[in-house]
Amino acid sequence: MIMDKSVKGVVLLLWCLSVATCLCSRDPKVVCIDKEKQALLSFKIGLKDPSNRLLSWASDEDCCTWRGVGCNNITGHVVELHLGNSYSGNDYETYVRSKLGGDINPSLLKLKHLNYLDLSLNDFGGISIPDFFGIFRGLRYLNLTGAQFGGRIPHQLGNLSSIRYLNLRENFDLYAYDLGWLSHLSSLEYLDMSFVDLHRAVDWLQVVNMLPSLSELHLCYCHLDNIPPSLGYVNFTSLAVLDLSLNFFNYTIPNWLFNLSNSLLYLDLNYNSLQGQIPNAIGKLKSLQFLDLSNNGYIEGRISSSVWNLCNLHVLDLSYNNFRRGIESVGNLSGCIGKSLKSLDLSYNQLTGHIPDWIGELKSLKRLYLPYNSFYGPIPSSLGNISSLRFLYLSYNKLSGTLPESLGQLSHLEVLHIRSNLLGGFVTETHFAKLSKLKLLEMSSNSFVLKVNTSWIPSFQLEAIGMGSCVLGPRFPSWIRMQSSPYYLNFSNARISDTIPTWFWNLASRISYINLSGNQIHGEISNITLNSETIDLSSNCFKGWLPRLSPNVTAFRLSKNSISGSLSPLLCEKMDEQKNLQILDLSKNLLSGELPQCWMYWQTLTILNLGSNNLFGKIPSSMGSLNFLTSLHLRNNSFSGDLPLSLQNCTSLEFIDIGENKLSGNLPSWIGEKATNLTALRLRSNKFSGNIPLQICHLTSLVVLDLANNSLSGVIPPCLDNISMMATGQLSYDDFNRSYAYESYEENLILVTKGRESEYEKILRFVRSIDLSSNNLSGVIPSEISTLSALNFLNLSQNYLKGKMPEKIGGMISLESLDLSRNCLSGEIPQSMSNLTFLAHLDLSHNNFSGRIPLSTQLQSFSELSYTGNPELCGAPLLTNCARNDESEGATPVHDHNEEGSEMMWFYLCMGLGFVVGFCGVCGVLLFKKTWRYAYFRFLEDKIDQLM
Ligand SMILES: *[C@@H]1O[C@H](CO)[C@@H](O)[C@H](O)[C@H]1NC(C)=O
Ligand SMILES: *[C@@H]1O[C@H](CO)[C@@H](O)[C@H](O)[C@H]1NC(C)=O
Ligand SMILES: *[C@@H]1O[C@H](CO)[C@@H](O)[C@H](O)[C@H]1NC(C)=O
Ligand SMILES: *[C@@H]1O[C@H](CO)[C@@H](O)[C@H](O)[C@H]1NC(C)=O
Ligand SMILES: *[C@@H]1O[C@H](CO)[C@@H](O)[C@H](O)[C@H]1NC(C)=O
Repeated sequence: MIMDKSVKGVVLLLWCLSVATCLCSRDPKVVCIDKEKQALLSFKIGLKDPSNRLLSWASDEDCCTWRGVGCNNITGHVVELHLGNSYSGNDYETYVRSKLGGDINPSLLKLKHLNYLDLSLNDFGGISIPDFFGIFRGLRYLNLTGAQFGGRIPHQLGNLSSIRYLNLRENFDLYAYDLGWLSHLSSLEYLDMSFVDLHRAVDWLQVVNMLPSLSELHLCYCHLDNIPPSLGYVNFTSLAVLDLSLNFFNYTIPNWLFNLSNSLLYLDLNYNSLQGQIPNAIGKLKSLQFLDLSNNGYIEGRISSSVWNLCNLHVLDLSYNNFRRGIESVGNLSGCIGKSLKSLDLSYNQLTGHIPDWIGELKSLKRLYLPYNSFYGPIPSSLGNISSLRFLYLSYNKLSGTLPESLGQLSHLEVLHIRSNLLGGFVTETHFAKLSKLKLLEMSSNSFVLKVNTSWIPSFQLEAIGMGSCVLGPRFPSWIRMQSSPYYLNFSNARISDTIPTWFWNLASRISYINLSGNQIHGEISNITLNSETIDLSSNCFKGWLPRLSPNVTAFRLSKNSISGSLSPLLCEKMDEQKNLQILDLSKNLLSGELPQCWMYWQTLTILNLGSNNLFGKIPSSMGSLNFLTSLHLRNNSFSGDLPLSLQNCTSLEFIDIGENKLSGNLPSWIGEKATNLTALRLRSNKFSGNIPLQICHLTSLVVLDLANNSLSGVIPPCLDNISMMATGQLSYDDFNRSYAYESYEENLILVTKGRESEYEKILRFVRSIDLSSNNLSGVIPSEISTLSALNFLNLSQNYLKGKMPEKIGGMISLESLDLSRNCLSGEIPQSMSNLTFLAHLDLSHNNFSGRIPLSTQLQSFSELSYTGNPELCGAPLLTNCARNDESEGATPVHDHNEEGSEMMWFYLCMGLGFVVGFCGVCGVLLFKKTWRYAYFRFLEDKIDQLM
């Protein structure tokens, strides 16, 4: 960038000199030529000039004195027109009003001596660049930057035989089919056509190669996709600046670049799709100051050690590529290493190995970005020698060891970002000794222990403090008291077990993100008004009543504390204030009383979790005004009465968990009609009665349907097969993970699966479950249910279901747990059951099943208890043998066929399992050995966990 300026500087200087001489040292006796004055007046008439910039262009004045007009100081000819608009970046409206527009009158051609024309940043409304511009044979400078010309570039510009500077940048509607005309501009030194559509100009490089004087070429975002890897003869050897960023090049880095060894200073190829390695020949570009190959994605291999031999390099950006292996070896260095390197960015690659000590020799370095790689080993203490360092990013690697004390010497350091490594050990005052300029400190997700004196007053004033999972306690860190204006504070899981000091709340009111979760912080927060945008105090020991929330708060999490009292003060005070709260999580506290009718003041709420408190009474109708609510958790309280009808206005609901209460009445049919985005409906353990409404089958996104332990009667709706998410389909991560300022809120549910209760959070999106157990349901199990091939858990136990098990139950190939116990089911267990190769929990006990338990490696692996209480059932694992049945049925061909079918099925499943590809034997063994199988599924769950 520094260099960018210096090159432009040369060109600019050239022109500024000529401008200065022409405009400032004018001989007072020279006046403008009348013919040219008339030409300019005609030109003015064609223009739109809303801000009257051309006010001085009056017929009774010498045109050489007009604004923007420059005359030759001897002949009086108009030689320059400076009609560019300018934008300083603050007053956009004035800038827009100052744009000239309208038509460009050919009278301009009468200015036969014109050598400088600047019309940049005006608005010519998409008209073409006039063909007649080609007639200005003497024109040396043409600047049409951002002047809103459109259409095809006229090839007549190829007649501008004297032109040295041509800038057509940012005329977004401009295009060219070929650039042949350019090849005639043999004096051209500067060409910028960035943002002009050149995708049809396949000849661009051949043409450019005919411009021996060209020193700057900018073709950024020109839709180019063709970059020939080699050129017969490289002609444009004056090229110093080459910007080809934001195009669609998908070949290798072209060879001809390395022939520009004496001239090239600046090379920008970022945001293309270049592939292959960096050739060693890059070391030939001895003058190179700026090299940006970032955001190509596919440049790979080892970073050529020749790169470190580029002695004049200021900026090296290789981020967002596919570089692998280490950077330790630097080849035979020319001794200049990093003499001038100011910015090194290797982030978002797959680099591994150690961060080499030699990095410490990059003495001019200001910015070092190495995050999102796989570097391991220690942080080299030599980094402490780079006294100019201002930004140090080493986060998201696998660095281990301690934090070198030498870093405390980096007196210019503003950012120290080492989050998510395997670092540890003590961090003391010494580590921060001279870091008085530090603004951002992010060391979360390591194993550091901060060991500083209680009276420590740091020399820095931090803006962001990330110390999640650093050991800061047991005392509350008092040094932050002197930090005047941080906006981000993360002290989560920091082993603080102390009373929160009262001064903290004063400081806190100025911090927009606070995370103190997962500590053992004590104290009363009853009389505090929280003001942070995001505040997470969950999993602590806070007591007293709920605090108040200022209108700034958008997310407040206080779950797992000991807060008591009622919700009314928090919800019902200062109702005239605008509320912005989106997330309110007060679960697992000691809140009591009834919910107040104040929800209409909190219409921005999207996530509400009041689960596991001592709340009671009716669910207030005002909750129906929460139009944006996606997630409603009220489980494990003592709410009673009907669900208010007004809840049907909460059409954004995706998650309803109101289990474990005393709610009664019919299941509302509106749920299926209004809350059509519902993914989880958990009404377990209430007193709901009546039928299961058919509308429930409209909830095609449902993955969890838990109506267990109520008093529901009637039949199981046969239409459950409409719930497509259970039949197929996978949810995306976002469905259960709602992100908000810096953090995310992960949905969780308690499900009874495989006969035990477990909390599902991370793997919830992989779960499909129907639990209708412990109701008064009657009738048969609808055969349609067997098409739910994505369902993992099905529990219909403890009802009055009768009839046979669906013949095709084997179609539910994802079933891990099936509980049909304590019903009145009868008939034989369908042979297709043996297809359920994922089944880890089965309970068919206490029914009237009869006949032989189908033979499959699977069904025999369960204990007797799975089948007990079915007097007519026989065969392994039951001890009752089926001698008589064997006689009548024998080993029928059908049976054989089914056996084969099931083998095929589990072979197929094996193949699909990804994690065990090629280890079909493993799967086979697992089918026999129950304990092994459990272990395997745990492994699978762990794998899924790791995918998060
Ligand atoms: C006129 O301009 C030329 C360059 O264009 C310069 O060398 C010369 O000194 C100027 N003459 C006067 C009288 O300013
Ligand atoms: C051309 O115009 C643009 C926009 O006004 C300006 O940024 C640029 O510096 C001009 N070029 C020269 C060489 O003056
Ligand atoms: C090199 O430039 C000269 C002069 O413009 C031109 O005649 C010649 O064809 C160019 N060579 C190539 C290979 O483009
Ligand atoms: C490069 O892109 C073109 C067109 O977009 C495509 O046809 C070609 O296969 C790509 N080449 C490579 C190597 O990806
Ligand atoms: C909170 O304020 C009330 C009323 O001002 C007061 O009675 C109570 O003692 C205060 N509680 C705490 C913990 O400061």
